[in-house]
Amino acid sequence: MADNLRPAFDVEAVRRDFPILSTEMNGRPLVYLDNGATTQKPRAVIDALVHYYEHDNANIHRGVYALSQRATAKFDEARLKVARFINATEPAECIFVRGVTEAINLVAMSWARPTLMAGDEILLTALEHHSNIVPWQLAAEGTGAVVKTLPMNERGELEYGRLGEFITNKTKLVAIQHVSNALGTVHDVEEIIAAAKQVGALVLIDGAQNVGHFPTDVQALGCDFYCFSGHKLFGPTGVGVLWGKRKLLEAMPPFLGGGDMIEEVTWAKTTYAPIPAKFEAGTPDIAGVIGLGAAIEYVESVVGGWDAIKQQEHALLEHATKRLSVVPGLRIIGTAEKKAGVVSFVIEDPPVSSLDIGMTLDAQGIAVRTGHHCAQPLMDAFGIPGTTRASFAFYNTLEEVDHLADALEGIVEEVRKRESLRTQSHATEVGVVAWPEPKGSSPDEAAQQLIDDFTFLKEAGEDPRDFILDLGRNLPPLPASEKNEATHVKGCMSQVWLTARRRPGTRDALDFLADSDAEIVKGLIGVLQHVFSGQSASAIVAYDVAQLLRKLDFQNLISVQRRSGVEAMINRILSIARALTKESTEDTEGSKS
Ligand SMILES: Cc1ncc(COP(=O)(O)O)c(C=O)c1O
Repeated sequence: MADNLRPAFDVEAVRRDFPILSTEMNGRPLVYLDNGATTQKPRAVIDALVHYYEHDNANIHRGVYALSQRATAKFDEARLKVARFINATEPAECIFVRGVTEAINLVAMSWARPTLMAGDEILLTALEHHSNIVPWQLAAEGTGAVVKTLPMNERGELEYGRLGEFITNKTKLVAIQHVSNALGTVHDVEEIIAAAKQVGALVLIDGAQNVGHFPTDVQALGCDFYCFSGHKLFGPTGVGVLWGKRKLLEAMPPFLGGGDMIEEVTWAKTTYAPIPAKFEAGTPDIAGVIGLGAAIEYVESVVGGWDAIKQQEHALLEHATKRLSVVPGLRIIGTAEKKAGVVSFVIEDPPVSSLDIGMTLDAQGIAVRTGHHCAQPLMDAFGIPGTTRASFAFYNTLEEVDHLADALEGIVEEVRKRESLRTQSHATEVGVVAWPEPKGSSPDEAAQQLIDDFTFLKEAGEDPRDFILDLGRNLPPLPASEKNEATHVKGCMSQVWLTARRRPGTRDALDFLADSDAEIVKGLIGVLQHVFSGQSASAIVAYDVAQLLRKLDFQNLISVQRRSGVEAMINRILSIARALTKESTEDTEGSKS
């Protein structure tokens, strides 16, 4: 068809298919740019789920009655759709699992563990998601096999020139992502598959970030296993697919045992059902599978097909790269020549933590991902704790990219203004360590002051977040020399350093200073410092911090993931306080004896 006759891709029409895209978040139109984490669901998928529960709900493969047979037929139909979608040789090679994580664990347990021997090698890449690292580390621990990683260059592209060095006769499995979730790099998996085939190694492809953005053809790829999650393909959560070659799947032992996966069970011996049932023990997510089938049909029905999807996402990537690369102080991480619609970045001048960026964007209705993106080794390779990531789907618009870029420019401008004020006000204090004074005669008294102020401001209609952020902005500075390995608090998603001392002239009072690269975490430090600084270690140990945090509405201020960081910080203070209590008791006993 000539280009001018092809129906134009109408992004507004597509957006109307996704009910959530016309909603608001924090009083602003939702700008959803976290498609790498999960995609939104079109009405067709939502309707399929509702229709199933309203009209077809019954357990599958078990009932002789019409309703069960109808549910079974719809479930089986979804498998046909999956097989067509990825061009599998046959539907039986498509196993329904919970998602990529379960698919990879299945292969690690059922293929790698019984097959690998000491000295065999599993090759991954430097960019893998934790779900394509940890299962292989576990398999390697159990078999004596060795995990190797194909390195990348500074743009986030794999070093294909070194394939000969990494794929050798020892390599038994190559497990690689198709597209990087953290950087967006599209890997040349065909070249890697060809190299693996030369030495007879199997290849597993993690297609999590491919299936919703590019067409997938497992036969053309020539890999042995391919997996994806439904929720990244506009389908429901809790369902995904492991595709594997029949010969391999037949030779592998079951992953889970239970109902539906057996041929016959006796006390003496159990025989297993043929694939795919052998790997689908128990009642599956029937509605999810049917919803996944609906998602596949939806994607296949997009006007203009894959060409239109790819073109739209490429336009978003180009526009975002152009706009973001001129935001002052911003550096894009991952600049590969072949990229999917992902822009990962850090703001370095002045440094703004990804947590702060994410929270400020959220207040403007913009949803992005922040942190290590379940790819910590990759972040380590770049020497950064994490990035902020905007990841696109074909329903995103150039205007949404503009909103993001404008908001980022606003963040940089605001932080630069604040920094210049801070530099002026601290100009005379550089190098001076100012240990804070106690804010009351006990942690309770100090806390009460904080709770009163907090309640007053809340009742006056102020944003409680501002109260906490202000505490952080007024923290006494932690000297750069105190930010080291010993003071670094592990377990926080942001960078946190904490140092303490016994307060001079006291038996067991504790002083501490801390700092973080994230404003909200600094706020938390402000709270802890207000309550604990200068207090006796035994009073600190006895104090109920959890109750204080509840009174300050912390559950609304900080995401669940960050709470483990809060705990890590509190635990560090408590362990220092316990050590100090012990020391002072020993001192007292020593002086008695
Ligand atoms: C590349 C990649 N692999 C694996 C996963 C894990 O997928 P799931 O959590 O759906 O199992 C993700 C999810 O973000 C991913 O991006």
